[in-house]
Amino acid sequence: MNKFATYLFSAFLLLPAASFSVFAAGGGALEHSGVNVNDTASLQRGAKWYVNYCLSCHTISYMRYNRLAEDLDLSEDMVMQNLVFSNAKFGETMDIAMDPEQAKKWFGKTPPDLSLIGRSRGADWLYAYLRGFYQDETGGWNNTHLPNASMPHVLWRLQGIQTPMYRQETDEAGYTHEVIDHFVVTTPGTQSAEEFDRTARDIAAFLTYAGEPAQLKRKGIGIWVVIFLAFFTFIAYLLKAEYWRDVH
Ligand code: HEC
Repeated sequence: MNKFATYLFSAFLLLPAASFSVFAAGGGALEHSGVNVNDTASLQRGAKWYVNYCLSCHTISYMRYNRLAEDLDLSEDMVMQNLVFSNAKFGETMDIAMDPEQAKKWFGKTPPDLSLIGRSRGADWLYAYLRGFYQDETGGWNNTHLPNASMPHVLWRLQGIQTPMYRQETDEAGYTHEVIDHFVVTTPGTQSAEEFDRTARDIAAFLTYAGEPAQLKRKGIGIWVVIFLAFFTFIAYLLKAEYWRDVH
C-alpha cells in the first residue's frame, strides 16, 4: 500500500473511535433510555403527552406546528385537533400565554424553554429525570436527577407515587450516608411500570427530536453519503490502478 492509501485506511479505522468519544462525554451512570427518533409512532405519542402535560409551563419556541406535522406524518387537521389547545395558528411556534414573572412567583423558578434540552441534557438524562420523581420525608416532590427541583411531578397520576427505600453507604473518608436504594410505589397510578417507562421514553424521544428536527433527514441522508463515498473510493482505486499500469 502506498502512503496515501495507508492514511486513508487509518482515517477510516479511526472514524468509529471519534464518534464513540462523543457519546462517552454525555455518559455517566444513566440507564439506557432506548429512545429512537426514527420511530414516528413514539414521537407522535411523545408530542401528545407533551402538549397535555408539559406545554402549559414549558414553551418549545423553536418548533412550529406545521413543521411538527410534516416530520411526524400528521395532517393539519390532526395537529390542530389533537395538539393545539390554545388559539395558536398552524404556522406558529409552540408558545404559551403564561407570564414568566408569574411562573417565577408560583414555582420559585421560571420553567425553562425546552427547545434545546434534548441536546444539552441528552435522551438518557431526560428519561431518568421523568422517572426520578419521588415523595420525600417532607411530603413534597423531589427528584433523583435534579435534587430539590421546583417542578412538581406532573405525571404522578400515570406513574403513581413512589417513595424511596434507603441504605447506608460509607464513603472513602469513613462517613456514612443514607442513599436511595430503590423506590416502592406506595400509591399506584393508572399506568403499569412498563407503560410508564414507555411514556417517559416517548417524551424523551419527542424532546430529542425537537432539539434538532433536521436529524431525521440528516441521518437518512448520512447513510447514502457513506455508501457514495465507499463506491467513489472503489472507482478512484480502479482509476489509480489503470493509470499506474502504464507507468510501471
Ligand atoms: C407546573 C409547571 C410545570 C409543568 C407542567 C412541567 N414542568 Fe418541567 N419544570 C418546571 C420548573 C419550575 C422547572 C425548573 C426546576 C428547577 O430548576 O428546579 C422545570 C424543569 C424541567 C426540566 C429541567 C431543566 C433543566 O435541565 O434544568 C425538564 C427537562 C422539564 N422540566 C421537563 C418537563 C416535562 C417533560 C414536562 C411534562 C411531562 C414538564 N417539565 C412539565 C415546571 C413545570
